[in-house]
Amino acid sequence: MFEAFTYRDRELFCEEVPLRTLAERFGTPLYVYSANAMRARYRALIDAFAPDPPLVCYAIKANHNLAVIRTLALLGAGADVVSGGELMRARRAGVAAEKIVFAGVGKTEGEIRTAILEGILQFNVESAGELERIAAIARALGRTAPIALRVNPNVAASTHDKIATGRKDDKFGIPIESAPALFEHAASLPGLSLEGLHLHIGSQIFDLDSFARAYERAVALVRELHARGIRLRRLDLGGGLGVPYADEAPFDLAGYAARVRALTRGLGLRLLLEPGRFLVAEAGVLLCSVIELKQTPTRRFLILDAGMNALMRPALYGARHALWPVRAPRADEELVSVDVVGPICESSDLFGRDYVLPRLAPGALVAFRTAGAYGMVMASDYNSRPSPAEVLVDGSAVALVRARREPDAQMAGEHIPDWLVRHE
Ligand SMILES: Cc1ncc(COP(=O)(O)O)c(C=O)c1O
Repeated sequence: MFEAFTYRDRELFCEEVPLRTLAERFGTPLYVYSANAMRARYRALIDAFAPDPPLVCYAIKANHNLAVIRTLALLGAGADVVSGGELMRARRAGVAAEKIVFAGVGKTEGEIRTAILEGILQFNVESAGELERIAAIARALGRTAPIALRVNPNVAASTHDKIATGRKDDKFGIPIESAPALFEHAASLPGLSLEGLHLHIGSQIFDLDSFARAYERAVALVRELHARGIRLRRLDLGGGLGVPYADEAPFDLAGYAARVRALTRGLGLRLLLEPGRFLVAEAGVLLCSVIELKQTPTRRFLILDAGMNALMRPALYGARHALWPVRAPRADEELVSVDVVGPICESSDLFGRDYVLPRLAPGALVAFRTAGAYGMVMASDYNSRPSPAEVLVDGSAVALVRARREPDAQMAGEHIPDWLVRHE
């Protein structure tokens, strides 16, 4: 596997570039992405399915930076979008409309209209009400909207509660029991062209049996529909492929592809996948500086210049990202246990307790691993700290792909109403 982040003479590099030089040039906190790591993940996925690769619609919610989308689009990736804004990003990054799928439980009228006019591959429809709305909008435009129905297979994937999406009490999809009737209805609704079936059972899943249970239910439904004379053309299996955040074994890609192939053989459907995390998580780090080392009577805190405003996953899901010192310790150097926190005024601004690290002085650099997915996209202006900037590394080439949002820029859209302006 391609290793984007490696130590050379105890210095952490991204591809051919020392992270220290990036911190000097662009400041911290800084997201650093390896283009070749993304390419390697994409190719590994395609190769696992050779000679019949699926259409990989990159779930751009994982990392919507235009340069990231473009890197994958140039390899042939499509996009899975969940809003009009994401659709705009995908198109601006050069993803062909006919490779874009549009999911999400709350598509607005404006978003639906735009997506129809763009000519996307399909809407992944999440409810009976949405089906009617898309059909009505398409008819009003004199168009036909291509759709797949997203079914909820009622499978509890073994993952974090907050990122499981395929259980019957989750808000996503159409209950699989009531799906056949809705497929029949969809097949006859003017304004629609029924193309396929979609499901997505959650994120950060390693257990192939979870995928297989859900996919078996979807395939059984496809067969039932075909038997009733409702022919589908596409099966969209969603994303959810797991990535290691610490020392977990990598995702069993070959095993996954083998299971998918075995389950879908002979169906005659075009396969779509919607991985997000799998393509970009390990391709990114969040580079931060140490502000302070604080000792209290009971704990030792390492305070960084990035907190939950920059990387929210630990506060949101209790996720833990491994942390690399940018300068690796010598073999005989003493290590200390620290609680790693950000500067934000919340006790939940805690990356984790008991990280074992060399003694780091203010100004020292550290990098959170596996930060390329669901990192910058969830960053906020909370506490009015400058946002992280983003850099793309490609071999020895470096580009700033998003400038830091300083407080001035954060306040740009704000306005004090006239009646609050004091006239002296
Ligand atoms: C419909 C859909 N597809 C794909 C994804 C991507 O998931 P992952 O990043 O785990 O591959 C998500 C994530 O929430 C999703 O909701």
